[in-house]
Amino acid sequence: MKTPSMRFTSLAVIALAAGLSTTAQAQNAADAADSATARQKVAMCIGCHGITGYQASFPEVHKVPKISGQNAKYIAAALTAYRKGERKHPTMKGIAASMSDQDIADVAAFYEASGKDIPSPAAPAAPATPTADIQALLTKGNCMACHGADMNKPIDASYPKIAGQHADYLYVALKAYQTERNPQIGRANAIMGPQAKLFTHTELKQLATYVASLPGELKTVPQPKLRR
Ligand code: HEC
Ligand code: HEC
Repeated sequence: MKTPSMRFTSLAVIALAAGLSTTAQAQNAADAADSATARQKVAMCIGCHGITGYQASFPEVHKVPKISGQNAKYIAAALTAYRKGERKHPTMKGIAASMSDQDIADVAAFYEASGKDIPSPAAPAAPATPTADIQALLTKGNCMACHGADMNKPIDASYPKIAGQHADYLYVALKAYQTERNPQIGRANAIMGPQAKLFTHTELKQLATYVASLPGELKTVPQPKLRR
């Protein structure tokens, strides 16, 4: 029996030779991401990231982030930061510490492709118009310049999609970029740190609530879906 990666390579070659559409090639990449190896590696993630509305209690109660549909490059960067301790979080550090670079690449590809077969919430006819107060905060932090006009298409794949992410998680994440000298909480990030530090907690909460209300591609894909 061929290994999943061999199968992917031969399919890709056939697709190229036949001049098939990029959609077919993307499907092959998605199949590779959904290989038996990747499924085995995400078995330790789905107990938290595969349960809709699953709550974490550290450092305060909030929903576990949606990671299906997130950019693979960003997922890999986040996992590497937990492993190095640049992102402090005891649980995610423990998990990332057990992963090799290859494991990280495999689960990142898996989650980027996961949920593509589930329709995203329909985009509204007109983009959600922020209130004047929110608009002022968005302008001050220049959020769209990096995360994209709709917060769903960041300018670089190593930056996160944030539209539609859980509000309570976004708030915890934003506060973490402000936190320093705490052994258990904090995200040392040269790009996002200075942005988060412009705001009070109340303002970060308003930003988090607004960003969470936007339509986006992030999802939690429940466990049975992964089994297909
Ligand atoms: C015990 C529950 C739990 C398990 C198991 C778990 N996670 Fe997490 N994960 C969390 C929580 C809680 C956070 C938010 C951490 C924070 O505040 O930085 C998180 C954060 C993340 C992030 C960052 C998301 C973002 O938007 O920045 C990624 C990526 C991630 N986890 C991937 C994984 C992968 C891959 C696995 C399996 C190999 C996994 N997690 C297993 C609870 C879990
Ligand atoms: C100069 C580019 C830039 C700007 C401006 C910017 N961000 Fe970010 N943002 C990033 C990058 C890069 C990351 C990933 C950092 C990391 O790896 O931890 C990030 C991460 C985040 C996260 C964490 C997402 C997650 O899944 O954990 C949130 C929330 C966020 N940004 C919201 C905002 C908001 C709100 C604004 C405006 C007030 C903003 N950002 C402005 C580049 C930017």
